[in-house]
Parts: sequence; structure tokens; C-alpha cells
Amino acid sequence: MGKYILALDQGTTSSRAILFDRDQNIAGVEQKEFVQIYPREGWVEHDPMEIYSSQYAVMMELLTRKDVSPKDIAAIGITNQRETTIVWDKKTGRPIYNAIVWQCRRTSDIVDALVKDGLGDHIKNTTGLVADAYFSGTKIKWILDHVEGSRERARKGELLFGTVDTWLVWKFTNGAVHATDYTNASRTMLYDIRKLGWDDKLLKALDIPREMLPEVYPSGRVFGTANIQGEEIPIAGIAGDQQAALFGQCCFEKGEAKNTYGTGCFLLMNTGDIPYESENGLLTTIAASLDTRVQYVLEGSVFVGGAVIQWLRDEMRFITESADSEYYANKVPDTGGVYLVPAFTGLGAPYWDMYARGCIMGLTRGTKRYHIIRAAEESIAYQSLDLVRAMEKDTGTQLTELKVDGGASRDAFLMQFQADIMGGEIKRPVVRETTALGAACLAGIATGFWKDKDEVRAKWRCDVAFAPKMEKARQEELLEGWHKAVGRSRGWAN
Ligand code: G3P
Repeated sequence: MGKYILALDQGTTSSRAILFDRDQNIAGVEQKEFVQIYPREGWVEHDPMEIYSSQYAVMMELLTRKDVSPKDIAAIGITNQRETTIVWDKKTGRPIYNAIVWQCRRTSDIVDALVKDGLGDHIKNTTGLVADAYFSGTKIKWILDHVEGSRERARKGELLFGTVDTWLVWKFTNGAVHATDYTNASRTMLYDIRKLGWDDKLLKALDIPREMLPEVYPSGRVFGTANIQGEEIPIAGIAGDQQAALFGQCCFEKGEAKNTYGTGCFLLMNTGDIPYESENGLLTTIAASLDTRVQYVLEGSVFVGGAVIQWLRDEMRFITESADSEYYANKVPDTGGVYLVPAFTGLGAPYWDMYARGCIMGLTRGTKRYHIIRAAEESIAYQSLDLVRAMEKDTGTQLTELKVDGGASRDAFLMQFQADIMGGEIKRPVVRETTALGAACLAGIATGFWKDKDEVRAKWRCDVAFAPKMEKARQEELLEGWHKAVGRSRGWAN
């Protein structure tokens, strides 16, 4: 058997290939950014051929640079930006339109029409999602509405739909496999997360022919094989990136949670076999699984996480490099009563206020740049905490520990503040590439490279545990200020 598992991590801005050895050490990483297409305000597209070619290129470059023969690869795991929608011609393999990216807002009016037709509750109860242009369903409809003759062709089985995982598997298997996994299907707004099947009512409402939809399977299984330089390598794991990270963080049990600190933050909690219906604006979705006994997840996201630091750097010019913000935040003992609410694009869960806008409150004559930088750092932790509290309310369980990953988890100030304000332990793993690791673990277990979840869990290593040090009274005082500031930001653009 091969020495490595190869994880392909197809993200929103770059394609990455990462090699893991049997001890889950990273044996090599290769990354390539690709073009973001913004045809109009609020629209975002990718070229599906570039998604594939960049993914293929990083894979081959990694193998060449590390002098790894395809024979050394035991299996491939794929993880991907979720919801992004591709429709292609089954015969020619050519996409009929660019990939419509998850961030793209062009289908808001289709969503409004669904809600007007009274489908809002059905969407929530069936798919676990809130009716929104974020998900794939309305994006498929948009393509079929706008590319002439496409709906008819889809009905005849000539066109195929896929999220990015499906597209890559189809390309890597030379068109032999048209499939996805539960995690990706659960982000289409077309999938019944309890019955585990496509929902006819939503397909009908959006006029999407069933013939174009992929088969849906558990995340860890052999989906097909990729021929790499004559070697047939099993593609044995697929999961949407956030669920892959949850798996890579070994949050296998009910109540375990992870937060990924990227441009935005994605907080996911495993809720076991219960698909909680959130009363606090969180999404219910499916966790990566090895068989049909699925577990569910509550998910919440912070729209502006690490992006607030980029804003300080690029627009405010308070810092020259993102990493400087940690240094400056540590220069002052507190924010001097300053709060920064980075509601640049509104606020997500638990507020869901699209009219909220950013604000800086509590400025005095003594406020320094450092205070504002510190307030920006703290805002990431406050927003994440709001999600934690919403999850606790929905599930009735208290979160005492949070596993973290993503770029900004490097920031020790932020992690310590997160622990302090949450009053729980923050655990940062040695391998912070948990998204790729999750996909690798799924593929590794499915092919016997690793025995089971227990073996994978035994290999998960904590790098730093940040224990909470803040007094309860101080915590409450700070949170009161935060929520007051959030209140001021709300409804501003209305
Ligand atoms: O739901 C969107 C998410 O999957 C995108 O993740 O890391 O590619 O920005 P990322």
C-alpha cells in the first residue's frame, strides 16, 4: 500500500494539494490561486476548467517536487468550496456556463419568489437551511433559465449539475462517476436531510430536472479511480470544506465543535443524530460520515472575521502586515472601552440583519490606534462567541471546549481572548490544515490506510491549549458593551 494520502483542497480563491503520511504529518503542500470573475456588482464566477486545471496542476507539481510516484499514493480525498454550482455537457465535458460561486447574490429575486410562494418553512424543515441565494438550488435554476435550450437538454439527461467536488470527481474519473456526498448535497437547498434524498417539491418549484442531479453517498467511500500516470488511485473521500475540517478536528461526538478563522469564520457543532431546528438563525446540515448513519451539525458563520484585519491593513493603513495586529493588540491592556462591530455586509447569525453596518463606538480623546486594532481583533472573538451561545441555546448543552484552525488561529492574542470571553478552553492542533486532513482521514479510513476514527483521533495532537483566565464579572462587563455596540450597528442602512 502507498505511503501517503493525497488531499485535494479546492477552495474559493485557490486550489491546493497536500500530502499526509501515516502519522498525519504534512509531507508537502502546493497551492495555486485562480481568477475571480466579477461580471457585475454582487456577482461572482469561476471558470470550471480553471478550477480543474489548477487542481490538476498543483497535484502534479507536488508529486514532482517531492519526488513522489503515483504508486506511493494510497488514496485521494477531495474537499471543496461548497454550494458553488457548475452545469456541464455530459458528452463534451464542457461547462455550459461559468461556475456560479457561493458568494454570488444574483439569484436573490428567485429566493424572494420562493418565500413569497410560501416555501420558506418547507426549505427550513426539509433542507435545514434558510432560504438564501448562498445555496446551489437557485443558481442551477438561473443557469437553466439563461442558457438557451438548457432545461430541455437537462431533462433529456444531456446536462449534468455538480458542486465542485462532483465536477472534480467527474473530470478525474474521465466522466465515469457523477456523484457527491451528503455534506455537499446538504448545501444545495434541494436535499432532504432527514430522508436523505432530493426533494421533489423544491425541484418542481425551481424547475430543475432530476436527471441532471448526482448520486449522493456517504463521504468516506471509494467513489471511483483517478488515472495518474498510468496508476489507478482510488478517490475515497469527499466532503465540503467546513464539514471536512470538523472531521479533521475529530469532532466525532455530539457536542464537539470547531471554529475556522479565515476571511470569515465558520463554527460547526456536531449534534449527533439530532437535526436541531435552530431558533437562533443557525443552519442545520450533515456531517461527514463513513456510512449512511449520518450525524448532523449546527453551523453559523461570521461574515467578517480575519477580513477586519485586512481592512485595518488595506483601507485604514493602521498596520503593514496582518500579523502586526496581534503585536499591537498586545501593546495595550484593553481597548479603553472601544468596540468595533465589523458589520460591513450586515450581520449573520444570530442577528440576521442585512441592514447592519460597521461602527466604532466608545471613542475618547485618549483613544489610540492600538485600541482600535485591539477592538478589531476582539470583534472576531465576540462574533464567534455569539454563535457559540446560539448553539448552546439551540441544543441546551454548554460548550466547554472549542477546537480552532484557519489562518487567524495563528494569532495567540485572539485565541487567548476567545478562551477568556467564552470561559472555555481553546485547542489549536499541530496540523492546522484540518480541512485537507479531514478529507485525507475520510479517504484513509475508507481504504484501510487508517483503521477507524479511533486511530485517527489518537493521532490528533494539540499544539496549544488556551485556558480561560478572565474573571466572570469582567467577561460580563465586556459582553454587555459588545452587545450595546452591536445594537448601535443594527438597521443602519435601512
Ligand atoms: O460555504 C462556503 C465555504 O465552503 C467556502 O469556504 O474556505 O473556500 O472560503 P472557503
